[in-house]
Amino acid sequence: MLLVGLPLPFPRFYTKFVAIMDKIALLKHKNEQALKGGGESRIEAQHKKGKLTARERLQLLLDEGSFEEIGKFVTHRSRDFGMDKEVYPGDGVVTGYGTINGRLTYVYSQDFTVFGGSLSETHAEKIVKIMELAMQNGAPVIGLNDSGGARIQEGVVSLGGYADIFYRNVQASGVVPQISAIMGPCAGGAVYSPAITDFILMVEHTSYMFVTGPNVVKTVTHETVTSEELGGAHTHASKSGVTHFACANELECIEHIKRLLSYMPQNCEEDAPVYAYEVMDEVRPQLNNIIPANPNQPYDIKEVIEEVADSGSFLEVHKEYAENIVVGFARLSGRSIGIVANQPAYLAGVLDINSSKKGARFVRFCDAFNIPLLVIVDVPGFLPGTDQEWNGIIINGAKLLYALSEATVPKITVITRKAYGGAYDVMNSKHIGADLNYAWPTAEIAVMGAKGAAEIIFKKEISEAKDHEAKLKEKEAEYLEKFANPYGAAARGFIDEVIMPGETRSKLIKGFKMLENKVAKMPKRKHGNIPL
Ligand code: HXC
Repeated sequence: MLLVGLPLPFPRFYTKFVAIMDKIALLKHKNEQALKGGGESRIEAQHKKGKLTARERLQLLLDEGSFEEIGKFVTHRSRDFGMDKEVYPGDGVVTGYGTINGRLTYVYSQDFTVFGGSLSETHAEKIVKIMELAMQNGAPVIGLNDSGGARIQEGVVSLGGYADIFYRNVQASGVVPQISAIMGPCAGGAVYSPAITDFILMVEHTSYMFVTGPNVVKTVTHETVTSEELGGAHTHASKSGVTHFACANELECIEHIKRLLSYMPQNCEEDAPVYAYEVMDEVRPQLNNIIPANPNQPYDIKEVIEEVADSGSFLEVHKEYAENIVVGFARLSGRSIGIVANQPAYLAGVLDINSSKKGARFVRFCDAFNIPLLVIVDVPGFLPGTDQEWNGIIINGAKLLYALSEATVPKITVITRKAYGGAYDVMNSKHIGADLNYAWPTAEIAVMGAKGAAEIIFKKEISEAKDHEAKLKEKEAEYLEKFANPYGAAARGFIDEVIMPGETRSKLIKGFKMLENKVAKMPKRKHGNIPL
């Protein structure tokens, strides 16, 4: 059709032209085919489930027009089970790079419309290529996962493909940020790559993560459980702690990824982006009244965080899991910080197995990516009991202690109220390398609470007294006066300054600025051995 009207005297030119036009038409055709994934009906089925396609997701995630695809025409090499007749360009995963808020990001997005997003040898090779480029060029990798696991028709080569990805996940850990969004069923091998990455986000009601699904569970353990109960977003956000964020829908999930990235540097050798902020009057008098008169009355530590951080900048991580500790990113005068804070409003802010694991993992991420740490302390100690002891509070509690001790980023502590026992040491005490330690006048730094202490050290006096109760009260008051304050610690330099709560924000802004160029040397070694 295109040749109509062309002059006749140059036949060789026509032939060449026709050939070129054919080639261009072929490329166009191939591109169109690739965009269709597994075909219209499967795309429709995906939409009916309330899910977007792999390409639609990328369109929302990346800056407009920034996506550059790599490996669009890759196809699988399988010839068994009629697979030679079922060949889809791209082989079930869209890979490439683009920008998010102007910053380079590598992405892969699994296409459930092609063999359920299952992982073949070539599908894995595409992901590996992206991960290697990300490591080489120092930019984050974001995986949008929607996969039925290993491509069953391929056997061992798909298992090998998974292992190739796991290996790159480990190589990239601490080098570039890795984020996994779970946007559909992820079974078998599909869950282990996300498990190694830094952050997992799940979408409520359309995404699941499990090593084996409900049918296998029923066969092996005779338990009847739905996919949602076994591995839905809420389950993993609150029970297992596998996911850091449970998002209401895919749009919210994608927005969360973008926000999360805004606190991070591109790689371990860079600093996080700094947002414009003019330091002005940073006093927050509301904080002076936040601690209740009764030391056993709870208050919400998030109110303290909101006052201390730049307005609206706090992004809580692991919100529904181990709520006795609060962790998340925030900004302080435009700069990223990581916050770890005991939560007196939940289990009195006690440290237990889960809160220690949650805190430690977050601290290690911040340390790996040069994000300074603020630790806010109001902790009555470690949770006692057989449940905790038998499940290893000793080893697990040591995780947070280890993580904070090894962190070399600037570290500042603020003790608002209780800092009792071993938990005082753990929560970024001066002794384990904190750079600046502040305490509010309401701080109580002691081996334990006054009543418990009086009962132990004055046991004889109390039992010999005519009025046990009165004697206990008297001794409790004595202990309180001696230790339930920050001045003993300040006298020894364990606390650098006792500050008015209202001036906390301004002290932190100055403190982190002072520590901006901190250089910390660790002993030469291959790697430490955190108690896992
Ligand atoms: C090949 C697969 C597949 C797989 C799904 N499909 N999973 N093809 N390999 N692993 C195909 C289906 O045949 C179907 O093809 C299409 O994807 C959609 O699947 P449906 O079952 O129709 O969808 P749905 O009802 O939404 O269920 C999704 C699912 C289910 C929960 C993921 O398909 C499922 O249970 N799949 C198998 C999960 C699994 O056991 N994977 C292997 C794990 S072993 P058509 O042509 O109809 O569109 C593993 C080992 C690795 O991963 C270990 C490494 C450590």
